[in-house]
Amino acid sequence: MVSPLQGIKIIDWTQVQSGPSCTQLLAWLGADVIKIERVGSGDPTRNELLDFEGMDSLYFLQLNSNKRSIELNVKTPEGKEILTKLIKGADIFVENLHPGAADSLGFSWEEVHKMNPRVIYGTIKGFNDDSPYASVKAFEPVAQCAGGAAATTGWWDGEYNIPTQSGAALGDSNTGMHLAIGLLAALLKREKTGEGCFVQQSMQDAVLNLCRIKLRDQLMLQNIGVLKHLPEYPSEKFGDTVPRAGNVEGGQVLGWCYKCKGWETDPNAYVYIVLQNEAKAFDEACQALGKPEWITDPKFNTPEARNLVKQEIYKGVEEYTINKDKHEIVDELGKKGVPCGPVLSMLEIEKDESLYKCGTLVEVDQPIRGKYVTIGCPPKFSDFTPEVKSAPLLGEHTNEILKEIGYTDADIDKFRTGHIVCK
Ligand SMILES: CC(C)(COP(=O)(O)OP(=O)(O)OC[C@H]1O[C@@H](n2cnc3c(N)ncnc32)[C@H](O)[C@@H]1OP(=O)(O)O)[C@@H](O)C(=O)NCCC(=O)NCCS
Repeated sequence: MVSPLQGIKIIDWTQVQSGPSCTQLLAWLGADVIKIERVGSGDPTRNELLDFEGMDSLYFLQLNSNKRSIELNVKTPEGKEILTKLIKGADIFVENLHPGAADSLGFSWEEVHKMNPRVIYGTIKGFNDDSPYASVKAFEPVAQCAGGAAATTGWWDGEYNIPTQSGAALGDSNTGMHLAIGLLAALLKREKTGEGCFVQQSMQDAVLNLCRIKLRDQLMLQNIGVLKHLPEYPSEKFGDTVPRAGNVEGGQVLGWCYKCKGWETDPNAYVYIVLQNEAKAFDEACQALGKPEWITDPKFNTPEARNLVKQEIYKGVEEYTINKDKHEIVDELGKKGVPCGPVLSMLEIEKDESLYKCGTLVEVDQPIRGKYVTIGCPPKFSDFTPEVKSAPLLGEHTNEILKEIGYTDADIDKFRTGHIVCK
């Protein structure tokens, strides 16, 4: 079995979530990813949100599988020399330190390009260089707020009408996925030109890229003053910016999240149901939901008419869902061609055997923790199955990596004594 990125070497000077999610994906695809970690402490997530003392955190383990780890003090001349040697033999160099940090240590794009003109340089920062916030450090919520997600997520009225974050890591892992696309494109380009390039991915851009339909809404609002697909229409007044949309579907189709049996005690006893616009699909949904009268009633039987009575439709559909189990609903409606899905808790997801069967969830073994569950490689290939391995221990591969670039045992002992490397 040939892995897509077999033979590609990546020097991974990333930490926390955004950068590591990118390099983990590339490692699953077969790249040799060498993670550069701070001497003694490593990636800060190794010790963040610990469930057991003395073990790498689940946070770290979810983001660093299939990599090799070297502890390296890049602030020393010897550390710089080692990193330079590694870059000289690499295809990709990635960093996500705070703005200016890699540059000030002598690893700017210009310097790295001089060291190895073939190397592709990937970088993640909160904001682009031209942004007024270019020098600001960023974490997940910063990006969700600056990229349009927080302003448009959540409830549009009541006590909880406040900017709200998504549970999905739109600022971090989503940025990592964007950078991965950029790096893969740069690799293909290098096949043609023989030269590496600089790929910068800001977290703000990555979030905003997923908020395209919110920009669509902003422009529509400016043009016609209302957003007919939002639950607020037609009874509430629109301001000059896109409001939070609750659980509305992003298109013109009428979607909502409905209570199911057990909702009083189970916060996830909900199902999402979409009523499509096409007459045939709408008719089938009405039959399935026990509302055949909607098919001929002009109050309901066109998308425009339905926009005026959304709240009535939500109530009508909930009469069907409220006493049924969410899985039964999806089973029944799914068979009848109605787009729908259960709200699954993380517990339900973690216990879902079907997700293990298709490699979406995998159990891996780590020397200290033992077995743990992680999310595997999302794309599935016809002729290649990524083998998800455990994340490395801190500095686990220091010796072998140093020997690969020509250092002897005596050199390594000297580095260890000088705290250039550790384990
Ligand atoms: C995540 C972030 C906010 C953390 O900032 P931070 O606490 O200053 O941590 P950093 O790791 O960036 O830098 C800390 C120091 O460690 C140093 N360092 C990192 N790895 C090192 C190594 N292997 N050897 C020696 N020093 C090292 C850095 O050079 C820096 O030194 P300086 O402060 O003297 O410049 C910041 O890195 C950032 O904004 N990154 C870009 C956006 C991003 O990816 N965010 C992460 C979201 S998950």
